[in-house]
Amino acid sequence: MARNSVLILAFTSLCIASALADWNILNQRIRRHGAKDSLKTYCESWRINVELNNIREFEVVPQECIDHIKKYMTSSQYKADSQRAIEEVKLYLSGCCSLAGDGKDAWIFDVDDTLLSTIPYFKKHGFGGERLNASSWEAWMKESKAPALEHTLNLFHEIKNRGVKIFLVSSRRETLRSYTVDNLIHVGYHGWASLELRGLEDEYKKVQQYKAQVRKRLVKEGYRIWGVVGDQWSSFEGLPKPKRTFKLPNSMYYLS
Ligand SMILES: *[C@@H]1O[C@H](CO)[C@@H](O)[C@H](O)[C@H]1NC(C)=O
Repeated sequence: MARNSVLILAFTSLCIASALADWNILNQRIRRHGAKDSLKTYCESWRINVELNNIREFEVVPQECIDHIKKYMTSSQYKADSQRAIEEVKLYLSGCCSLAGDGKDAWIFDVDDTLLSTIPYFKKHGFGGERLNASSWEAWMKESKAPALEHTLNLFHEIKNRGVKIFLVSSRRETLRSYTVDNLIHVGYHGWASLELRGLEDEYKKVQQYKAQVRKRLVKEGYRIWGVVGDQWSSFEGLPKPKRTFKLPNSMYYLS
């Protein structure tokens, strides 16, 4: 009898101890990313750290954050964030540059998710939750149906009207040239000085290296690059350094 109660007591305390341990783990989980609110907080800090270039070279959006990224990229917040960036460009332009009017003042734009939006493609491909499939992405680009990013379209013409030459520097491949030109013209872009695409010799370079080499060539040709607008950090990195860079939001994919 006495031996039995000792056993029962031992068993009970074992149960309590393990329940407490479980409870602790559960608590931590809830604190870290259990509740809905903390998932939202977790995903928003993932997103903002992508924009800050602290999180680099991600191949897919974390599974649990796909919904959050989808909500952001289709929200009025995304539009407001893009518009704010473009307004900052205009503010910079109003006082920055002693434009010489000698045809050597230059500005650089990215194409995808800067001039044109790829959101219609990513709507069908999990908002960055699937690994980027180059062949289906290029097939979509060949349809030439990407819409313009409204605020950038407006800025594009404002810069052009100041007599600044516009260079479009894209990591799209050279084989997409005619589709890209059709798409750009169809949505209202025209009058750029040059559209730079990745030729065969550029395909094995990092995007950052290829884009820096384009800038180097332009500087050598005597252009003064007053600024770059892009959605990827690889559009700004490397030498020569642009005078100013303006990053548009994009947390669906990362091109290095
Ligand atoms: C990529 O897309 C192509 C064309 O849509 C498809 O045939 C192929 O299976 C896809 N590849 C992967 C790895 O999903």
